[in-house]
Amino acid sequence: MSVPDTGTAVGTLKFRNPLLLASGILGESAASMVRVYNSGAAGVVTKSIGSESRPGYRNPTVFEFGSGMLNAMGLPNPGIVDFGEVVRKTRASGVPTIASIFGSSPAEFAALAASMQEYGADAVELNLSCPHVEGFGAEIGSTPAMVGEVVKTVRDSVSLPIWAKMTPNVSDVAALAGAAEDAGADAIVAINTVKGMAISAKLRMPVLSHSVGGMSGRAVKYVGLRSVYEISGRCGLPVVGVGGISCGEDVAEYLMAGASAVQVGTAVSEGGPGVFGRIAGELSSFMSSEGFSSIREMVGIARR
Ligand code: FUM
Repeated sequence: MSVPDTGTAVGTLKFRNPLLLASGILGESAASMVRVYNSGAAGVVTKSIGSESRPGYRNPTVFEFGSGMLNAMGLPNPGIVDFGEVVRKTRASGVPTIASIFGSSPAEFAALAASMQEYGADAVELNLSCPHVEGFGAEIGSTPAMVGEVVKTVRDSVSLPIWAKMTPNVSDVAALAGAAEDAGADAIVAINTVKGMAISAKLRMPVLSHSVGGMSGRAVKYVGLRSVYEISGRCGLPVVGVGGISCGEDVAEYLMAGASAVQVGTAVSEGGPGVFGRIAGELSSFMSSEGFSSIREMVGIARR
């Protein structure tokens, strides 16, 4: 049997395979993003970048448990001005680069997107979903009205593709995605982390310095799959699935739920960039053994 074609597209952006680096892991420097690409990812999403530099929360910011991770970093980043060189260098190395941005208002998102466009990013990912930073993320992105306002303001300001990253911490994630679609988004990314917390019984206090954080990794895969399934049933945009992907069959499940591509985060922080090559190989083997010759044949098959 011939080797399956693992190329895919998210709107107008074409990728050599469906595996992208998720925001928040190894997305701070051009060197780390080029390394991820050279390890088999088809593209990268940068760290979430805001208007000004932020130090983030004090330690501890990460708690690892058996089937995943809880984190509350507090959106640490160097600020949009200093990040320009990182985007330029990453793009100059030929790496498809999606720039993640966060703002506290539609106008702030639009200004950040305009800078990322100037730096040469291939798309912007709107962080409408970080579950624990006051004034940002899910505080902006939990109602269809506000999601629509942010996306429309960004749409009116830039021509590059807009990906809207959704929070799962709502009763109707598909309604948020529908609002993003109506306002002119090009793709939906689902999901950001699931809001949670850990308590140390011995210390009688929360483990994370911020108390509440976001859960990722294998523990959240089924929340991600359900979200992608619901979104792709409601809206016509391409969906990028995120949440708990650590092997080729996980990718196949997301594609079958309706995703056209996926992002991998926690598995990279556990296993390093080499996970991309392994997962790509496993996906290709799965496709061969199950008789799929292209990614397109798998997308949404569980919905039919
Ligand atoms: O803590 C953080 O910086 C998390 C960001 C996010 O979940 O988007």
